[in-house]
Amino acid sequence: MGRLAGKAALITGGASGIGRAQAMRFAAEGATVVVGDLDGDAARAVAEDIGRSGGRAFAAGFDVANREAVDACVEEAVRQMGGIDILSNTAGMMDGQSNVLDTSPESWERVLSVNLSGMFIVTRAVLPHMIAAGGGVVLNIGSGASFRGGMGGIAYTSAKHGVVGFTRQLTAEYGRQGIRSVGIAPGMIDTPMVSDFMADPMLADKAANRPAGRVGTPEDVANAALFLVSDESDFIHGVTIPVDGGRLAVA
Ligand SMILES: NC(=O)c1ccc[n+]([C@@H]2O[C@H](COP(=O)([O-])OP(=O)(O)OC[C@H]3O[C@@H](n4cnc5c(N)ncnc54)[C@H](O)[C@@H]3O)[C@@H](O)[C@H]2O)c1
Repeated sequence: MGRLAGKAALITGGASGIGRAQAMRFAAEGATVVVGDLDGDAARAVAEDIGRSGGRAFAAGFDVANREAVDACVEEAVRQMGGIDILSNTAGMMDGQSNVLDTSPESWERVLSVNLSGMFIVTRAVLPHMIAAGGGVVLNIGSGASFRGGMGGIAYTSAKHGVVGFTRQLTAEYGRQGIRSVGIAPGMIDTPMVSDFMADPMLADKAANRPAGRVGTPEDVANAALFLVSDESDFIHGVTIPVDGGRLAVA
């Protein structure tokens, strides 16, 4: 029996990097997974990988910032799986490290929409189903930029700080109705999102998460995510836990 046997999970940003690693891991632990992503083809490829590994997964192509598309996906996911026990809000995008004057209002809107408002839109669609079923877990992916300036640009840092507040407030509002809200703040993780950094030896060395002294893997984050969405962490509510090789501890 896997640690998530019988559970149904929706993972946004599930087609790549940290989301993909969670999808693979959760499915390997017995969950049925909906791999949700802007890139529907890549989401389908992940669902097929899971199927080939003996797991059960569906794919859904949608933009987390598009309310109609999110609502339709969640309705379909509930129809296919009978409910959603676990929501992992992982979809995100960088902001080109832009400062205030280099950030257009349109770029600000989009980065906030994807990294923060999208989390609200998907959670708002899933929550009634979780509450009706007696509870569930909402995992929100933040960043080192959730706690510090200077790790992203103005829009990304503002959005990721918002993720910490969103996670706390969700617990305050719905904890008593069985909703457990938790977060992860990854450090530098080797995914396509940061491939530009990783390609530059100087930047990669600077970005290596110390004290661990290495860049993280998507699996490092998926391991923590598995614990946080499983019943083993039933008494952990409202916190965003760094998975960063110790970087924030010494920054
Ligand atoms: N990689 C890192 O070093 C790092 C560090 C801190 C935080 N994070 C966070 O981890 C999360 C996952 O990032 P990753 O590194 O795996 O990146 P990634 O680029 O590999 O994956 C992100 C996925 O999100 C999807 N996505 C983007 N916008 C979307 C939208 N509007 N709707 C639906 N899906 C969308 C992309 O298509 C992609 O598949 C993000 O929230 C990111 O901010 C990453």
